[in-house]
Amino acid sequence: MQPVQAIDHIGIAVRSIESARLLYERTLGATFEGTEVVPDQKVNAAFFTVGGVRIELLEPTGPDSPVAAYIEKRGEGIHHIAYAVAGLEERIKELAKEGVRLIDEVPRGGTHGTRIVFLHPKSTHGVLTELCEPQ
Ligand code: CO
Repeated sequence: MQPVQAIDHIGIAVRSIESARLLYERTLGATFEGTEVVPDQKVNAAFFTVGGVRIELLEPTGPDSPVAAYIEKRGEGIHHIAYAVAGLEERIKELAKEGVRLIDEVPRGGTHGTRIVFLHPKSTHGVLTELCEPQ
């Protein structure tokens, strides 16, 4: 596969953005960049940048959110790591050919207008991995 380009963001599951924001903004001094609702993933996202990497706090919008299920099962914590790629459709085909299990066969909408797919943690040594293609 063509190499991934960069770590685009790290997704962190939190119960409440309002309370987690204090740690990232005040204690760690990360730059707050705003928020976005991602209906596709049933989350509210809050963005911070550290160096060139974005930290995304993901708060479930309801009990039916996958992030709510994640927190229920494993507690708050690192939810996924996202790599920027070019030519997402091609990457999907290549990964499938290599036997990597994909959660999404077809790209869906991510934050910042990106198109994304998730790779299954069973194929990625336990790390939920996102490939995202900027607009
Ligand atoms: Co993400």
